[in-house]
Amino acid sequence: MINDKMAKALNEQINEELYSSYLYLAMSAWFESQNLPGFAAWMKVQAREEHAHALKFFEFIHECRGRVVLQAIQEPAREWKSPLAAFEAALKHEQHITGRMDKLMNLALAEKDYATAGLLQWFVKEQVEEEASADRIVQMLKMAANAPGALLMLDHQMGERK
Ligand code: FEO
Repeated sequence: MINDKMAKALNEQINEELYSSYLYLAMSAWFESQNLPGFAAWMKVQAREEHAHALKFFEFIHECRGRVVLQAIQEPAREWKSPLAAFEAALKHEQHITGRMDKLMNLALAEKDYATAGLLQWFVKEQVEEEASADRIVQMLKMAANAPGALLMLDHQMGERK
């Protein structure tokens, strides 16, 4: 069983993960509009990963006999100033999600809900990877600044993500 307070907080996280998926899909669409198909493909894979995160919470709540309540998903931005600006926004978003995971973990421990804490441990670890991969791309885009050839090479590399 999951208590109402914890279920409510995890339901809010489902919404955050679906928004993350929507945000990365919006970024994918923007990269397509910039003729950078590799970055667009990377973002589409990321959007799918976020959807899978939402489903992990969705399924966990049901396993714990809780009630899933889906809420409206906020509209994401449509435009970014540059590929670097898009990835800086992605990194900032991931830092926000990390902060949420920390709060959820604090709540789970305060409620002595060790099953939820176990699930959240997976997300805490995942967030380390999520921040690191966004940050690595931010750094690469900074190095590629003012060098269109480098940007195109990077685009090719990004398109290899499965
Ligand atoms: Fe679901 Fe990118 O964290």
